[in-house]
Amino acid sequence: MSDPIEIDEQDKESLREMLRGSGYADKAIDYYMERKNMGVLEGADQVSELTGHCGDTMKVYLKVKDGRVEELRYQVLGCPGAIASAMAAVELVRGKTLEEAKKLKDADIFREIEDLPDQKQHCIRLSIKALQKVIDEYSGNNGGNS
Ligand code: FES
Repeated sequence: MSDPIEIDEQDKESLREMLRGSGYADKAIDYYMERKNMGVLEGADQVSELTGHCGDTMKVYLKVKDGRVEELRYQVLGCPGAIASAMAAVELVRGKTLEEAKKLKDADIFREIEDLPDQKQHCIRLSIKALQKVIDEYSGNNGGNS
């Protein structure tokens, strides 16, 4: 399904400027704008949803093969920090064992996206908690083998 909102190049550049001005690194902005790991994952083995204290919600789709994260997708109703963090989390855990994926740290994501405004640090936490939740629920439904 194509994105119903077309953003032209000029709008994209001005959005980038706004994000840079509020403290997002270029890498974080790329993750936010490209959204490569966003959306529904057909045939997911587990789907879990988590809402943070801020009210933003993440739905996570997990596909597992041989005890490893075969594929992961997030749907995010949230801020640029939430989207950038979730997209980066996927890149960091794809191919990892479930146990390794559950150990993903805020600092790992922060390193990957390079910078976020200070008041957006909790968005990283939400992406990690949503990831841990989908893994826990998958493990609970599949005999606890995470
Ligand atoms: Fe809620 Fe960013 S403000 S996750």
